[in-house]
Amino acid sequence: MILAIESSCDDSSVAIMKASDFSLIHYEKISQEKEHAKYGGVVPELAARLHTAALPKVILRAKEHFKALKAIAVTNEPGLSVSLLPGIVAAKALATALNLPLISVNHLVGHIYSLFLEGPIKLPLGVLLVSGGHTMILGISKTGVISVLGATSDDSFGESFDKSAKMLGLGYPGGPQIQNLALKGDDRAYDFSLPLKGTKRLEYSFSGLKNQVRLACLELENSRIPSENSRISNKNSRIPSENFRISSHQKANIAASFERVACLHIIDRLKLAFSSQKWARFGVVGGASANLRLRSMLESLCASYDCELLFAPLEYCSDNAVMIARAAVAKYHNKDFCQNLEMHPRSSLENLKII
Ligand code: KG4
Ligand code: ZN
Repeated sequence: MILAIESSCDDSSVAIMKASDFSLIHYEKISQEKEHAKYGGVVPELAARLHTAALPKVILRAKEHFKALKAIAVTNEPGLSVSLLPGIVAAKALATALNLPLISVNHLVGHIYSLFLEGPIKLPLGVLLVSGGHTMILGISKTGVISVLGATSDDSFGESFDKSAKMLGLGYPGGPQIQNLALKGDDRAYDFSLPLKGTKRLEYSFSGLKNQVRLACLELENSRIPSENSRISNKNSRIPSENFRISSHQKANIAASFERVACLHIIDRLKLAFSSQKWARFGVVGGASANLRLRSMLESLCASYDCELLFAPLEYCSDNAVMIARAAVAKYHNKDFCQNLEMHPRSSLENLKII
């Protein structure tokens, strides 16, 4: 069995997987969402302290399996350095105490492996990775080599939901909040413009859309509170972290219009990738792949290209140690151990491999 630790952002998680048949023996995750919610996003210092308190507890709750362990795996890249560090230190301490080898796992590779938790690895494959930190279109070759075909030049897809939710005063994480509120709104109420429309660039950009949300909020607030108008001379002077005082009906319309255009942007750029790649199968991973509107638009896209669409199980879309354990088992079978495990907070996916 392999014990895996994940702590790259705001979840402290441990999983144990059997190397012979990939069966899950143990899994626990302590999420810090509630603690970060009042700040509208992850506060690194707080995340570090919470990981330091949670990790020893979750690791010890797996103690009955320690005797059966053959290796300790840990996410060492990419992520918040102060979040990665407690996980790496815990993994090194455990590996030393139990005299076991260490396996390092790239968090994004872990997300890709979440596609293969319930079935065999299928390659070649196109992948959309949509999380809080990343938005990427990936190509994975027959031999498992990962290439980054396109990425965001500013905010990620998930981050744009988090920031829009913060402006609407909806709490953190913003993805599920926007999705739920959007169901009550009119997604055509605002004609937000589609980022990079008409260009052939295989990249994403969500900062302009986020700004359109901010301006829509500001305009509504200004029209509601005339006494405050005089104090706001330059509408760009308001920072987008403020909660605007607008009605819940208007918030729902903004959420729905934002979600429609954000998902449309994902699909619009994917069409470019599909026309050149001829993928027979396509997988979608990362926390934001839980978005139902995105899922249904991807279903239509893949159907029109006669392409098989793979999703990770919903419970393993967001950060978790199960996907890290699955990636680690593949490395264990290849005897890919790490003698000198180091942290790389900003590493990319280029030149990494599946299996
Ligand atoms: O993969 P993940 O758990 O953490 C990172 O590695 O970043 O992704 C978290 C991100 C957050 O930005 C969250 O708002 C977003 O995924 N998310 C969603 C939904 N559920 C989570 N975004 C849109 N719609 C959702 N339903
Ligand atoms: Zn993630």
